[in-house]
Amino acid sequence: MTKPIQIAVIGSGYVGLVAAVCFAEIGHDVVCVDNDERKVLALESGDTLIHERHLPELLERYRGNKIHFTSNLQEATRASDAIFIAVGTPQAENGNADLSYVEAVACEIARALTSYKVIVEKSTVPVYTNEWIRRAIERNGVARRLFDVVSNPEFLREGTAVQDFLHPDRIVVGADSDAASSLLAAIYAPLTTGAYYARPGAIPGICSSSAPPPLLNTSTKSAEIIKHASNAFLAMKISFINAVSNLCEAADANIEQVARGIGLDNRIGPRFLRPGIGYGGSCFPKDVAAFRSVAEQLGIDFSLLTEVEKINAEQKKRFLSKVRSALWTLRGKRLGVLGLAFKGETDDIRESPAVDMIEMLLAEGCSIAAYDPAAIKRTQHELPASPRLHYVEDAYAAARDADAVLVLTDWREFSALDLKRLHSLMRYPIVVDGRNLFDPQVMHEHGFTYISIGRPAVYPARDLELANRPGA
Ligand code: UGA
Repeated sequence: MTKPIQIAVIGSGYVGLVAAVCFAEIGHDVVCVDNDERKVLALESGDTLIHERHLPELLERYRGNKIHFTSNLQEATRASDAIFIAVGTPQAENGNADLSYVEAVACEIARALTSYKVIVEKSTVPVYTNEWIRRAIERNGVARRLFDVVSNPEFLREGTAVQDFLHPDRIVVGADSDAASSLLAAIYAPLTTGAYYARPGAIPGICSSSAPPPLLNTSTKSAEIIKHASNAFLAMKISFINAVSNLCEAADANIEQVARGIGLDNRIGPRFLRPGIGYGGSCFPKDVAAFRSVAEQLGIDFSLLTEVEKINAEQKKRFLSKVRSALWTLRGKRLGVLGLAFKGETDDIRESPAVDMIEMLLAEGCSIAAYDPAAIKRTQHELPASPRLHYVEDAYAAARDADAVLVLTDWREFSALDLKRLHSLMRYPIVVDGRNLFDPQVMHEHGFTYISIGRPAVYPARDLELANRPGA
């Protein structure tokens, strides 16, 4: 067992809270700082704030012993060896990342620095942020020998955040000093040596004591670029497969077969080739824009990223056209909507294509009964219930008397629906699936008109003749 290290994590959002809890899980002593007193009180009293597997049990285990919550950043800084900055970097109007929270935290850390500390960027930030943090701290009168700034980007996904943190594909440490990289190596040693995975009760995942994750040492600037480039690449992969799915529709081919055929090439890989209604969430849209903007500032033409964004926006419009072509006119139609979150297994609706879609459908005059297993509460804040928008308690209630059901989020729960029951509840058995959750053949057998992404639509025998008529 390595010696516990005193760690402060600033910010208790997805990245901060998960990192704090996981650092405690691998043996360190953590103080998690947030300037929102209500959040601190909620976390202290056992609320996890976000919907994330394993988080409640780990928080319960370490709260009050290996993990404490506070709003006092300066005290937390003084008590720690490493200070992880995990505050938000929202998108500014020009596409740049807004780094004002990072700057404010750096200045406050500076006011508490009296002995050597390593300050770690965990938030997703553009290249050169590291240098700005260093300058901000020095401008506040702190001697250079009292601190180092390291970039240690996080690659966790919402919905599997704890597992991703403890079982990463890689750990990237961008450090320009030996003292700083040694401290980071010690923090992650329980993972990189495999010791954590041999422990009874360790959270299971892809890593093991015989296959621990690698730690990649880089310069600070390279680490910053690795994070942006990873997210931009994944977003590009999604836009690519969405564009190919449109081609499949035009050519009457099947995207599932095509994605499998290209994904079996080791150089391409099968993951992130699921077509849909476009990527969303708090990361890809913002990070693609920020990376494009960084490239522009550095005089690099990276118009590929503009195309990635364009395809993503277009994908939502195409889905709306599919709904229209299934229903003819939209005004007054009653739609059952399955899914509000930006992807399955999370309650997060930031930049959710599902929410955008509901807004578009309401603007077209539809009435909507919407269901999501976890995201209704959050959506209600943004889109309050109205005479044309109801939130209902399950998928079957959404389908009741519907002219069509739309699948907008890939919740596992939806793929296990009782199709016979769904069919019996609907006014017209039409399903427009933006996530390809169902097998077209099975939908056909259950008597649905089923329209999905990049695959031939299927119709019940009675409607087939109509669908084949010119102009349909
Ligand atoms: C993403 C990255 O996957 C993480 O590695 C990264 O750490 C994180 O951003 C971040 O920067 O914090 P996340 O936003 O949680 O994670 O979600 P993803 O699972 O990547 O999905 C993003 C969006 O792409 C979702 O809307 C999802 O539905 C969509 N998607 C994903 C597809 O449309 N097709 C796919 O094949 C995969």
